[in-house]
Amino acid sequence: MVTCYDFWSARILNTSDVDTLLVGDSLAMVMHGYESTLHATVDMMTSHIAAVRRGAPEKFIVGDMPFLSVRKGLQPAMDAVMQLMQAGSDCVKIEGAQGQLEIMAHIVQSGVPVMGHLGLTPQSVAAFGGHKVQGRNEDDALRMIDTAKQLQEAGCFALVLECVPSRLGEEITRALAIPTIGIGAGDGTDGQVLVLQDLLGMNAEFKPKFLRHYADGFATLQGAVNQYHADVASAAFPGVEERY
Ligand code: KIV
Repeated sequence: MVTCYDFWSARILNTSDVDTLLVGDSLAMVMHGYESTLHATVDMMTSHIAAVRRGAPEKFIVGDMPFLSVRKGLQPAMDAVMQLMQAGSDCVKIEGAQGQLEIMAHIVQSGVPVMGHLGLTPQSVAAFGGHKVQGRNEDDALRMIDTAKQLQEAGCFALVLECVPSRLGEEITRALAIPTIGIGAGDGTDGQVLVLQDLLGMNAEFKPKFLRHYADGFATLQGAVNQYHADVASAAFPGVEERY
């Protein structure tokens, strides 16, 4: 799974081998320049999901329920789910579990597949006191295994595990019948997810331990635009064959 937020990259990913596109609430940071995912709204998610669906009609699309959208009561939560699904999502992803298992089960029973998300759930970063690996001590690890089982019980069809020790990623995967998808959770999960711009190296300075750059995207794009600029400045572009 990789993230995808717009029509342009959806068209590329539609022809790629990846199984699943995640319209993650990380779009608030990557596409809108906010400091955290707390700034994503249902309207923002809806508009990006619709663009991705138009660009990637053949892919399975996961739409993130943004900050607090499942915590304002049943009616607003179901309205948000409806907006995301009508925009073209195939399921919704919901961070956390505590105090919201019932509503998650209700969404599942309403016919909407729900993907869970545990570990370093960025919407709770204020409560975690920063971006820290979760489940490092025995008690936290056992609690997370238990919570993962509760999410499975509530009807989640898959579970994202973010920034947990490799051993815990493996243990949760073994404890569940549903697939796990890891980011910073080691090699013991069933699948992996990365933010597209991160794996493409669009921000060379962003290199957390779990990330591998598969391209030097920033330098490649900057180089192409600078070459265009240089060609215009030297009158090498447009050439004879590029004129009407
Ligand atoms: O929003 C997002 O990009 C995510 C992934 C980090 C799993 O939820």
